[in-house]
Amino acid sequence: MEELIRKLYETGFLEREEFKKLIEDRNEESYEALKKLASKRAIENYGHDVYLRGLIEFTNYCRNDCYYCGIRASNKEAERYRLSKDEILYCADMGYKLGFRTIVLQGGEDLTYKDEEICDIIREIKKLHEDVAVTLSIGEKSKESYEAYFKAGASRYLLRHETANEEHYKKLHPDKLSLENRKECLKNLKEIGYQIGAGFMVGSPYQTIDYIIDDLFYLKKLQPHMIGIGPFIPHKDTPFKDFERGSLELTLYMLAILRLMFPKVLLPATTALGSIDPKGREKGILSGANVVMPNLSPKDVRNKYMLYDGKICTGDEAAECRKCMERRIENIGYKVAVSKGDHIDFVNNL
Ligand code: 5AD
Ligand code: FES
Repeated sequence: MEELIRKLYETGFLEREEFKKLIEDRNEESYEALKKLASKRAIENYGHDVYLRGLIEFTNYCRNDCYYCGIRASNKEAERYRLSKDEILYCADMGYKLGFRTIVLQGGEDLTYKDEEICDIIREIKKLHEDVAVTLSIGEKSKESYEAYFKAGASRYLLRHETANEEHYKKLHPDKLSLENRKECLKNLKEIGYQIGAGFMVGSPYQTIDYIIDDLFYLKKLQPHMIGIGPFIPHKDTPFKDFERGSLELTLYMLAILRLMFPKVLLPATTALGSIDPKGREKGILSGANVVMPNLSPKDVRNKYMLYDGKICTGDEAAECRKCMERRIENIGYKVAVSKGDHIDFVNNL
């Protein structure tokens, strides 16, 4: 074990069999060793800075039907909402005033918003505050659409690949969705010049350690700028309602491995991680994460963007979340960075 961890630390990679042993035979001791080296790596690259991204969940309408997700089209229990352009701009402006320099527009795949409207919203946010980075997280689109958003001023795009294994992908999604298209989208986004974010859920139904290793190999090839991982958490109105949730311990272990594989990557301590443990996000940061994404959505819609049960911060105002996050980060000896928080290899970017 010790040798494997040292090798991962020194070379950033392992053979498949070695990863398998590292994950399968994990224990308290190997986690502690990984965590120590992962936080060291994060500090070497980003100091004790933690980047904030303000998340605006602007629509929970979705045409897709992912089996794990609470806002899937077939969930008739979900109370649907859409924010207007003015509401989105209000949240973005509020975010700016609270010190956010990245605004993430996230939503289900809602075709009501035409490309031109999305572009308009991006342009308006940039017009309000030119030193804000706009990140999109709105799913699979054509390369032309991605190009249009980029031209309008979006510079980053989050699209988790969810699982890099074909078989597994089919078990998590209806036939209409394919891993092939997902990968094509990520490739297109990267070609256009976005900083891209991929990622997967830990402990999703049917996931095996071999599948997780497929994720690691895929990420190695893709070289995304951001990697979002969090535990799978069941949602009561989905086909996966009776599956167990992903574990805190494996999620933290994977965060530490990812930090060692990708020393410079932007790695969020996700809301899902914070939802399964009151100190989940802090533990994530101490295991190598360096980003948190507090919610900026208006209070009255927050409890409607329920991807999984028990999501935290659904009753809080943006300002409260902001303060709470700062306190949490400072409590563990880190500090909130008021900057756009680009990937350090990215030079010319807004
Ligand atoms: N549990 C945890 N994460 C989920 N996501 C969707 N549904 C769930 C769930 N039940 C994640 C997916 C998606 C991201 C926005 O949220 O990975 O890409
Ligand atoms: Fe939202 Fe703590 S981050 S309440």
